[in-house]
Amino acid sequence: MATSAPRHPAAPRTTDDGTGGDSSDAEARSAAFQAAFDAAVAADERIEPRDWMPDAYRATLVRQIAQHAHSEIIGMQPEANWITRAPSLRRKAILMAKVQDEAGHGLYLYSAAETLGVGRDELLDKLHSGRQKYSSIFNYPTLTWADVGAIGWLVDGAAITNQVPLCRCSYGPYARAMVRVCKEESFHQRQGYELLLALSRGTEAQHAMAQDAVDRWWWPSLMMFGPPDTESAHSAQSMAWKIKRHSNDELRQRFVDICVPQAESLGLTLPDPELRWNEERGHHDFGAIDWTEFQEVLKGRGPCNEQRITQRRRAHDEGAWVREAAAAHAAKHSSPAATREGRAA
Ligand SMILES: [Fe+2]
Ligand SMILES: [Fe+2]
Repeated sequence: MATSAPRHPAAPRTTDDGTGGDSSDAEARSAAFQAAFDAAVAADERIEPRDWMPDAYRATLVRQIAQHAHSEIIGMQPEANWITRAPSLRRKAILMAKVQDEAGHGLYLYSAAETLGVGRDELLDKLHSGRQKYSSIFNYPTLTWADVGAIGWLVDGAAITNQVPLCRCSYGPYARAMVRVCKEESFHQRQGYELLLALSRGTEAQHAMAQDAVDRWWWPSLMMFGPPDTESAHSAQSMAWKIKRHSNDELRQRFVDICVPQAESLGLTLPDPELRWNEERGHHDFGAIDWTEFQEVLKGRGPCNEQRITQRRRAHDEGAWVREAAAAHAAKHSSPAATREGRAA
C-alpha cells in the first residue's frame, strides 16, 4: 500500500469519537479496524505510523525498537575503548567510522520509535534508570585489540543474521531503517573478519590473541539470539504479527552454520568440542549454552553492566549543552521572522 496514506483516513483514532454512538457501534468499529490490520499483516503489507494498530502491537514494537536503539549506542563503548590504541592509522580510521555508524543506527532507530508516539527523552530516561534493556553482549569487556576483530566478525555477524529478516518486518519505519543498518553492519562484519585474518596470519602471539578473543566472544554471541524457543516469552506473538520472521533457535542455527566455514578460513577454532556437521539435519550440532550466565548478565551482574550505564549517563549529562544549543538553533530558524529572513536572503 502507499506509504503516505493512512489505512483508515476517515476513522477516529479511538472508539470514543464524541458522536454519542452506542457501545455496540464502537465495538463494531474496533472489530473492523482489527480485521483490516489482520488482513494487511496476512497480505504482507506494511503497517505505517498513521494506520490503526492494536495497542499490544505498538507496545511490542516500542519495546523492541527501543532495546535495539539502546544496544546501538551502548555498543559504541566497548570498541571506542580501542580507538586511541588502534595499531595503525588505517585501523583507527576504520574503527572510528564503525563506531560512528553505530551512533547513526541509534538515531535511525530512535526516530523509528518516535513514529509510534514515544519521545526520545522518555526512552533514554528508561535506559538510564534501568527500565529498558540493551543487548547483554555489550556487558563483556574488550581486553585486547583482537576483541575489536571478534566483535566485528561475531557480534556484528550475529546482528546481521538477526536483522536481515527485520528488513521485511510488518512495521514500515522499522523495516526501512533496517535496510540501511544491514548494509553498514555488513561492512562491520567484514572489517572484523579482515582484522582477525591479519592477526591469525601474523606472529604466534598475534594468532594466540585472535584465538583468545574468539574463545571469549563465541558463546556470548550465540546468546544474542535470545533464549531457546521453548522459553522465549514474546516470540510466538511477534511472529504472528510478522515483526519477527524466524525463531531464536532458527537464527542461532543459521549463524553457527555460517561461522563454522569462516572460522576454518580464518585458521581459528570455535571453542565448542561438540561442534560437528550433522548430515541428517543438514546443519551443525553444537554444545549447550550456559543460560545461567545469560540470566546473570541480564540481571545486571555481568562484568561491565555498571560501567556501561554509568558511562552512558555521564555522556548524556555532558551532552546537555549540545542538546540545548541544537534546540535553541532549531527554534530560532523555525520562527516566522527567521523564515522571512531566509526567503529574503
Ligand atoms: Fe549497528
Ligand atoms: Fe555494527
